Amino acid sequence: MRIGIIGAGNIGGNLTRRLRSLGHEVKVANSRGPATLADLATETGALAVEVREAVKDVEIVIVTIPQKNIPDLPSDLFAQVPSNVVVIDTGNYYPRERDGAIAAIEDGMPESQWVSEHLGRPVVKVFNGIYAQHLLDRYQPKGTPGRIALPVAGDDPTAKATVLALVDELGFDPVDAGELKDSWRQQPGTPVYGADLDAEGVRRALLEAPRERPENFKAER
Ligand SMILES: NC(=O)c1ccc[n+]([C@@H]2O[C@H](COP(=O)([O-])OP(=O)(O)OC[C@H]3O[C@@H](n4cnc5c(N)ncnc54)[C@H](OP(=O)(O)O)[C@@H]3O)[C@@H](O)[C@H]2O)c1
Repeated sequence: MRIGIIGAGNIGGNLTRRLRSLGHEVKVANSRGPATLADLATETGALAVEVREAVKDVEIVIVTIPQKNIPDLPSDLFAQVPSNVVVIDTGNYYPRERDGAIAAIEDGMPESQWVSEHLGRPVVKVFNGIYAQHLLDRYQPKGTPGRIALPVAGDDPTAKATVLALVDELGFDPVDAGELKDSWRQQPGTPVYGADLDAEGVRRALLEAPRERPENFKAER
């Protein structure tokens, strides 16, 4: 597939590596410009581009930047992007360590709904709860006992089907985690988050998630 990745850090870099090794065409962008991505481009064969170029002529866009930087993206970034292009959000809200307080999320809005509102596009939430390094060294063939499963939340069934298939191709069991409004079940501090569970474990953990955001994942008052 043709995939654009916005963010080339821990997650964006490793998704670039894995997606390229699976033969996908990848364009990757960061905030400082393509010249700063020369090493990643040389290593992987991905095309380093400006942010606006990463959303052009692709089938999937992966947004993988810190939550606090989402409002820095151009407000019209997706204006010309066809509605059938799938947009993935890998993000997490870390008010204490990184992002500062975001009122709507503090008030209970799921993190990816907030991202979706800012981008002006539906998003599919996935990859937010797996350590970046595990994307590189813990993938396994379908059918392997204990294969790590990843929850996938989103509203559009076609977009979600594309992402479920991509997760499987990357070496993880995809688990349909419902709609974006349900995606608080996979946010930081929930039982599924960072737990590397198998599919059955992910389903159980999603069900067991408490609605209230854990205190240490709220902004300090
Ligand atoms: N690290 C993990 O294991 C992990 C796991 C799951 C999910 N996540 C989540 O995934 C997201 C990305 O995490 P990460 O660890 O990969 O972050 P990271 O290593 O800090 O990298 C952030 C990337 O975002 C880019 N960026 C920031 N602002 C941008 C902008 N306005 N336009 C374009 N690019 C921009 C940065 O580019 P510059 O360097 O040029 O500024 C950098 O390439 C976060 O929400 C994080 O919570 C992380």
